Amino acid sequence: MPRGYFITFEGLDGAGKTTQLRRLAAWLTAGGHHVVTLRQPGSTALGDRLRAVLLDSRSESALGPISPLAEMALMFADRAQAIAEVIAPAIAAGSIVLCDRFTDSSEAYQGAGRQLGSQRILSLHAAVCNNLQPDLTLLLLPPLDASLARARRRNQRHARAHNPTAAEAPATDENRFERESDDFYARIHAAYLEIAAREPHRVLILAGEDSIDAVELRIRAVVADRLGNL
Ligand code: TYD
Repeated sequence: MPRGYFITFEGLDGAGKTTQLRRLAAWLTAGGHHVVTLRQPGSTALGDRLRAVLLDSRSESALGPISPLAEMALMFADRAQAIAEVIAPAIAAGSIVLCDRFTDSSEAYQGAGRQLGSQRILSLHAAVCNNLQPDLTLLLLPPLDASLARARRRNQRHARAHNPTAAEAPATDENRFERESDDFYARIHAAYLEIAAREPHRVLILAGEDSIDAVELRIRAVVADRLGNL
């Protein structure tokens, strides 16, 4: 059985990763590949519980402030479980695994955004994830200004949709990270660029403001090329 292929999608919130992941999955499946998709945090029973704690903006009123180190450790607990339960078996079975966020998100958000430092994240990745590396990372990273404008529009939409009157508030939301400052997102943006510069063979930056269709075609071309060279 040939070893599978592991592709991760990264970028700032609202960069279109999820849309591109779904489109690539559909295209690969139509081409006869067996594809497994997942997102982090989440995609296992344990991960879905952790996701609710990590992303719900109301977690902290129930649990008290989540410390940056605890947040990092929970992200890695989620990831370790996803590797054991989904990612490693799928790669071993020859599938193409498409993962919406992976350890680069921890390096960008916790390492840089929360200022815990890259080294701590990379050490933890070695210890907890056996240093599993994606074969290819598609980094959807428009220029910072465009990313921030997009994130703000998204936040406003969330704020309107989640009208915070108690009676109408939904049971859960996923806004905890979206309340962060522009500085937080600027640090994340810079960290992603550093990761891409450090690992140019693994990380492909899709930086432009191209249309969704144009980005999709570029991704297809790169993936076809990489799979052809296996
Ligand atoms: P998600 O719902 O996947 O939305 P999107 O990717 O569209 O922003 O949100 C996941 C959030 O969790 C996102 O704000 C980034 C954050 N995150 C981390 O801070 N560290 C991590 O290791 C991971 C996987 C996610």
